This record gives sequence, structure tokens and C-alpha cells, in this order.
Amino acid sequence: MDAQGTLRAESTLGDLSEALKEATKDVHVQAENTEFMRNFQKGQVSLRDFKLVMSSLYYIYEALEEEIERNKEHPAYAPVYFPLELHRRAALEEDLQYFYGPSWKQEIPCPEATRRYVERLQHVGQQEPELLVAHAYTRYLGDLSGGQVLKKIAQKALHLPASGEGLAFFSFDAVSSATKFKQLYRSRMNSIDMDDSTKARILEEAKTAFLLNIKVFEALQEMASRPEQNGQLNLEKSELRKQDFSK
Ligand code: HEM
Repeated sequence: MDAQGTLRAESTLGDLSEALKEATKDVHVQAENTEFMRNFQKGQVSLRDFKLVMSSLYYIYEALEEEIERNKEHPAYAPVYFPLELHRRAALEEDLQYFYGPSWKQEIPCPEATRRYVERLQHVGQQEPELLVAHAYTRYLGDLSGGQVLKKIAQKALHLPASGEGLAFFSFDAVSSATKFKQLYRSRMNSIDMDDSTKARILEEAKTAFLLNIKVFEALQEMASRPEQNGQLNLEKSELRKQDFSK
């Protein structure tokens, strides 16, 4: 019975946080096992691969955080609005500036799969804001979990400076304990008032969010295994060749 004295059916889906974890278990395994992620975990990541993934992440977070700002006062999102602790756009801008230089914004590629992810984020933010929490959960809780392992791998494989340049994306300076923050985030998700049918739609949307990420990894893998055409690395290689011949 709620405050108005109406009888409410007990949720059969349980806490949102538990339900999300359970619902995305299989797609999480699928995401971890994409060729791009498997290679990454083995330290098989080139500077070119890393720049590609950071570029797509920029487009994804730019859209996600624009939609979050739009909905920061919406009751279905407000409890999980943590811009200071979580937002990644500024960090990605710093990293892309480091990797691509001052004209990074003109240079970063956006594969079709990334564009589709961005379109879904915009649709949700503008038409179905009650589902936005599914996208924030998928990215931010993932970044606070596996992201920390990926940071160390990238630092080692790419010989990036210990100062953390190029890896701002992976550093959550305003979060002193990822474990405690994840607990707080879960309790805030659980405090959002929703009926069972909305909860079921959020679970579906989280699975969609994982699948959109998987599609991005597949596109990046495709790009990574294709010889670059007009890119910087090819130019660098040809510069090297020129030097060899002139010896
Ligand atoms: C949680 C690893 C990829 C989203 C976790 C956890 C680990 C992990 C160790 C913590 C599990 C726990 O505390 O119980 C990895 C590794 C990955 C990877 C090694 C790839 C190599 C991804 C991707 C996404 C993602 C691609 C989504 C885009 C999540 C989420 C959680 C999580 C949302 C929180 C689950 C929860 O507590 O509800 N991951 N992950 N992960 N990961 Fe990943």
C-alpha cells in the first residue's frame, strides 16, 4: 500500500541494480569476448587501435552527456546524476588533444556503428528518457570496473607516460573508492520510482546498449585490420622509408 492508500503489486523483478546485472550477464561475456577486447586484454593494441577506440568513445560520451544534461531534473534520471564524479567528455577531449593534436575534432573518425549508438542515445534522451539510466549504467559502471584493468594494459602496451597523459578517460579523480561509489550508484538506481513494465524496458535497453557497444568493437576491429589509406601512420611509415632510401 502506498501513501495514497492504493494497493501496489510487489515488483517481481526485484531491485533494478540486481536485475540489470543479471539481465546483462550474457551480453557482458559477449562484449569481453569480442576480438577487439580479447586482443586488448592480451596487450595486443596498437596506437592506431587505441586512437580509434578513444575517438568512438568521444562521440558516445558527447551524446550520452548531452542527453543526461537534458534530463538531469527528470525524476527517472535525477537520482543518478553525478556529473562531477562520472562525466567523461572533458577527459576524452584532453586525451584526443594528446593523441591527435589541436585539430583533433576534425580528425577523429566516426564509424557507422558509432553513429547508430549516438542516434539511439539521442532517441532515448529525447523520446524515452526513462530508459536513459540503462545507458548510463552500461557505460559508467563498466568504466569504473573493467576500465581500470584496461588502463594499465594500455599504459604498458603503448608506453604512455606514468603521469597519465592520454589516459584521463580512465581516471575518476572525484571518486576515491570505485567500490563504494558503485554501491552508492546502485542504491540511487534502486530509488528511482518505476512500475514493472518500465523496469522491464530498462533491462531490455541495457542489453541493447551492450549490443551497440559490441557493434562498435566489431567496426573498430574491421578498421584496425584494414590498411590505412590517408592516415597519419601511413605517412609516418612512408617518411621512414624515404629516410631509409636516402641513407
Ligand atoms: C563490471 C570486466 C567490458 C560493462 C565489470 C567487472 C569486471 C569487468 C571485472 C566487475 C564485476 C563485479 O564487480 O562483479 C570487464 C572486462 C571487459 C569488460 C575485462 C573487457 C575486456 C565491458 C563492456 C561493458 C561493460 C564493453 C559495456 C559497454 C560493465 C558493467 C559492469 C561491469 C555495466 C557493472 C556490473 C554490475 O555490477 O551491475 N566488468 N568488462 N564491461 N562491466 Fe565490464
